[in-house]
Amino acid sequence: MVSSKPSRNLALELVRVTEAAALASGRFMGRGQKEAADKAAVDAMRLVLNSIEMDAVVVIGEGEKDEAPMLFNGEKLGTGDPPAVDIAVDPIDGTRPLANGFINSIATVAIAPQGTMYDPGPFMYMDKIAVGPEAVGMIDINAPVEVNLKRIARIKDMHVNDLTVVILDRPRHQKLIQEIRDCGARIRLIPDGDVAGAMMTCWPDAGVDVLMGVGGTPEGVLAACALRGMGGEIQGKLYARNDDEIARGKELDYDFEKMLTIDDLVASDDVFFAATGITDGALLDGIKYYSHGAQTSSLVIRGLTGSVREMTARHNFEKLNPISQVEY
Ligand code: FBP
Repeated sequence: MVSSKPSRNLALELVRVTEAAALASGRFMGRGQKEAADKAAVDAMRLVLNSIEMDAVVVIGEGEKDEAPMLFNGEKLGTGDPPAVDIAVDPIDGTRPLANGFINSIATVAIAPQGTMYDPGPFMYMDKIAVGPEAVGMIDINAPVEVNLKRIARIKDMHVNDLTVVILDRPRHQKLIQEIRDCGARIRLIPDGDVAGAMMTCWPDAGVDVLMGVGGTPEGVLAACALRGMGGEIQGKLYARNDDEIARGKELDYDFEKMLTIDDLVASDDVFFAATGITDGALLDGIKYYSHGAQTSSLVIRGLTGSVREMTARHNFEKLNPISQVEY
């Protein structure tokens, strides 16, 4: 048995990044200002990420999809000192719900050794299936919905009609929803936020057994980083929206038929992940403001050890604002 001294848990530093992004953007809840909220989260995230001792390059950035402000792919972050790492960010997963005052918006970031995160290139969407620890090894993204649901139910000693499937509420999922209904399983539609959706499968209190459907590729890689620590499984498949994307994929050597396993999405157990709630969700509470301060709820996850910390922090704006470059 190999044992070693306890080593640095970068996730404990990453949680300051997601807290800052959440606090900076939380002010925009329900104010209908998607871009301004995104910019506040991105600026806060960049500032705190640059204070961390690491030589990081953004592999999974976000923003091109809706031309939002972004931490761009290839951007260097951190102090430039070792360790050399890949970084995946989603300053706000759920920009729309935040702008509209709906549930399920979180700030997320993940880190893994350099060269281990999947680079989806220009392809924005991925078909996904994710489950919690009890159903690892039971799913196959290429199998019919009925087969997956029956296998998950069997291993969890449940009936298919006891299962809850979480899916993004999108017109593209009409057929999938009908197939699930035909099997008798329950469906929880979420307006946005499938990183949290995938993580909910690993969270007993969330009451979700499986995530299915097409969401963002950045969110797929982030979810894979979280699930590595939470003991779950995710599989993905790049999803082409049209023939042009298929042709582009061929040119760039991407295969839309290939099943992407959790190891393809992040090829190391040495991953760190943090998420902070911005608006209330099944996984995390949103920011609660009170006189001169606010409370945040976060998850801090380390892949190597499987530690999942729930962290509640109380922030004192009277002390923070005079010394911080981020306005809280
Ligand atoms: P952003 O808020 O980061 O734009 O993403 C929200 C989200 O719901 C993701 O959780 C999901 O993966 C993706 O959008 C789905 O994309 P679309 O809204 O285009 O269907």
